[in-house]
Amino acid sequence: MLFRSWEQAPTATRGTGAGGGVDRWPGVARVADHVGVEHLLVTRHALVRRVLTEAETYRPDNALDAVTPMPVAALRTLAAHRFRLPPTLANNGGASHPGIRALVADALHPTRVAAQRDWLAALVRRRVAELDATLTTGAPVDLHAGLAADLPLLVLARLVELPDAPVAAVKDFARAALELFWAPLDTDRQQALAAEVGRFHRVLREFAATGGGLAASLRAAGHPPDVVVGALFFLLVAGQETTSQFLTLLMHRLTGEPAVLAGLRDGSVAVADVVEEGLRLEPPIVTWRRVAAVDTTLGGTAVPAGTSIVLWLARAGRDPAMVDSPDEFRPGQRGSRRHLAFGAGAHRCVGDQLARMEAATVVAEAAPLLAGVRVLRPPRYPDNLTFRMPDAFLVGR
Ligand code: HEM
Repeated sequence: MLFRSWEQAPTATRGTGAGGGVDRWPGVARVADHVGVEHLLVTRHALVRRVLTEAETYRPDNALDAVTPMPVAALRTLAAHRFRLPPTLANNGGASHPGIRALVADALHPTRVAAQRDWLAALVRRRVAELDATLTTGAPVDLHAGLAADLPLLVLARLVELPDAPVAAVKDFARAALELFWAPLDTDRQQALAAEVGRFHRVLREFAATGGGLAASLRAAGHPPDVVVGALFFLLVAGQETTSQFLTLLMHRLTGEPAVLAGLRDGSVAVADVVEEGLRLEPPIVTWRRVAAVDTTLGGTAVPAGTSIVLWLARAGRDPAMVDSPDEFRPGQRGSRRHLAFGAGAHRCVGDQLARMEAATVVAEAAPLLAGVRVLRPPRYPDNLTFRMPDAFLVGR
């Protein structure tokens, strides 16, 4: 069974095999998921990278496939909202991909991202001061709600024209989508999630037809309405929910790393190095999928065409062949930046600079606060093939 093991996996591998610390996971392993579908799980950094970059052998077509097959009732609900996810970005191995990607990359250009830094820093500073004041009264605070949940969406809305919907509605839709497509579910839950995702899809469809900015550029380039909706759909989910999750994962990790926090405060540790080490050790996207396009072999294992391949990005970041101290948070250590948290190859994340800027800003502003708190309730993570989805992170002083 895949999912439940993600969180414990790094510690479960410790001390097994010759020499302690040796990985008990083989480079590739056949594993069955919760509905009995078999996947090829790839754990080694070099093999994960190979699959991500060999575009002719391994295709991205299954990237957004529902891991729990949808029952007819849920499919009907989605169809009633005219829900479709044609190949656009992450699931597009076709000829239209480079053009769509280039338009999205323009909207997220590093200079446009850098121009948001001061605005975000000021906002985070205000939030940190408010949280600090609350902590001083002896009350607990939720760092996920205060410093992670909405910030990436607020920044994204300044970079890309989005439908005029309340932040809470977008967050609910994005989390519903991550659950509907990547979680083990029963049929009642699928039905409820399909209704929620379908409702918002309708909002996106209307915006795609008339909206400006990226939507208008995609229309002007001749992309059909479904593609515009698909691109907006993916951007609204991937472009903010992942970074929210990462901010909470990183803050939680840092509360257990006092030496790193002290280094940040005295300037001996660089914020950028902390972010990279965080991405390596606590990636919000634990796995990503590809499908074999042809019969091939990987790590000595035969891989028939059509095999679903689950790339364990989080595990690859702890591959002892790549990094000196795989399980330790050591900013700047050899191999720290070679993680695959953003994927690799033709589909490598186009929001990486944005996510890095957001994380660096939050870490720089929140480090003094994090140094003085005690964890009251760590984040909880629901079962999910791919995303971490923390719920809350309660701390006190
Ligand atoms: C810490 C935060 C993030 C992580 C860990 C992350 C990770 C990923 C991963 C693993 C992929 C698939 C790469 C592959 O198939 O090789 C991806 C694709 C993508 N990400 Fe991110 N992402 C993050 C934040 C963002 C942000 C902030 C945006 C945009 C605002 C974004 C937009 C995209 C897009 C558009 C793609 C599809 C690219 C393509 O198929 O050409 N991501 N991301």
